[in-house]
Amino acid sequence: MTDQTSANPKNANALWGGRFEAGPSAIMEEINASIGFDKRLYAQDIQGSKAHCAMLVKQNIIPAEDGEKIIEGLERILQEIESGKFTFSSALEDIHMNVESRLRELIGPAAGRLHTGRSRNDQVATDFKLWVRDVALNDLEAGLSGLQEALIGQAEKNIDTVMPGFTHLQAAQPVTFGHHMLAYVEMFGRDRSRVADCKVRMNENPLGSAALAGTPYPIDRHLTAATLGFDRPAANSLDAVSDRDFALEYLNTASITAMHLSRLAEEMVIWCSAQFKFIGMSDKFSTGSSIMPQKRNPDAAELIRSKIGRIVGCYNSLMLSMKGLPLAYSKDMQEDKEPVFFAHDHLGLCVAAMTGMVADMKVFADNMRKAAGAGYTTATDLADWLVSELGMPFRDAHHVVGATVKLAETKGCDLDQLPLEDLQKIEPKITDAVFKVLTVDASVAARKSFGGTSPERVREAVASAKERFLK
Ligand code: ARG
Repeated sequence: MTDQTSANPKNANALWGGRFEAGPSAIMEEINASIGFDKRLYAQDIQGSKAHCAMLVKQNIIPAEDGEKIIEGLERILQEIESGKFTFSSALEDIHMNVESRLRELIGPAAGRLHTGRSRNDQVATDFKLWVRDVALNDLEAGLSGLQEALIGQAEKNIDTVMPGFTHLQAAQPVTFGHHMLAYVEMFGRDRSRVADCKVRMNENPLGSAALAGTPYPIDRHLTAATLGFDRPAANSLDAVSDRDFALEYLNTASITAMHLSRLAEEMVIWCSAQFKFIGMSDKFSTGSSIMPQKRNPDAAELIRSKIGRIVGCYNSLMLSMKGLPLAYSKDMQEDKEPVFFAHDHLGLCVAAMTGMVADMKVFADNMRKAAGAGYTTATDLADWLVSELGMPFRDAHHVVGATVKLAETKGCDLDQLPLEDLQKIEPKITDAVFKVLTVDASVAARKSFGGTSPERVREAVASAKERFLK
């Protein structure tokens, strides 16, 4: 595609210039034009125009011969754009007028009939909605299901891999790595359900709302709705041309997804550090340092961790453009597209990079297992044993375990390395049966409650995740 920014000669905008004596100043043209970014809507613009034209013919609003010429012309324009032969002009402001002006060059005055019973206000709302629905939401849905597949793959390979679970980033209780992977599968599953929800809610056709009030022509909005895959026409013309909720819902969903990605990215940065060594990031997603030869930096993960800021920025940007706008269309709304395009492009990259990183990472199960027992992570198991075997109230058991941990700390050993006599000094009724619950394997195996971390439950959870998310 080529760009041509023209210094606009007097009255160059033949499409709306009827009452103007002078063309816009160069600065006006620059601030006003959206073609630089909204050319991305060309396919949806042509799709919407074809549906509108076919409806106008069917309703006998325009002659069938003109309708045929219009459809042929639009198809030719689509080819021109896709083969890079189309010249975009910023004097023609936006994608709608670039297409319509070319149509006039190709088919002559019949082109002027296409804009009967519609306005750029309902046209842009329709084009943009189609793009968000068919491109942004579909891409996100496909990307997220691929990511879930990679995560489920790692979960399945690591059902018995024990690692420390953290709260406050302090070792808390042992968990299985498979369980940890499946936590993210749930998060991305909710993101997918947000995609599906907003797709249903947004699926109403703005086309035919015209400038704001509807139109006197006997148009059939149900027909264009059906042609464009909408469930129904939007009920209120003022609302239909003023509504950008669908773009905000996409950006909100994108922001929450980016937040989830940033959490996983952060964990991966921690896990691949020399101090943790839980995972090895593949070469494909790491970089070296120009000065420190030993370094392998998780750059992709760091960039994913950072991207959330810019994606939430997109959400804020559109929210603030929309805030306080009176009904109906205002030109502020032209600035709805760039944040959505930006979020789509960058989020798509993040999801793809994360999918590759998860699929390719090496899991160092031995290191995870070693770390899983450090930091007295089975202290809760000791307390649970005191409750279930000795009938102690949990609060008292908590006290006993506190004293036990303190003793182990003083001696510089793990809980299961304390001699029985030491334990009995703290609580005389303790027997050596306690030692079997103090291992990390016993600890995870015991957590069999629904949604818990035991390999038994995680095996079922992997099957359920496949069923719910990959079918
Ligand atoms: N380029 C405009 C946009 O993206 C199209 C709608 C213009 N409508 C108008 N009344 N000026 O919002």
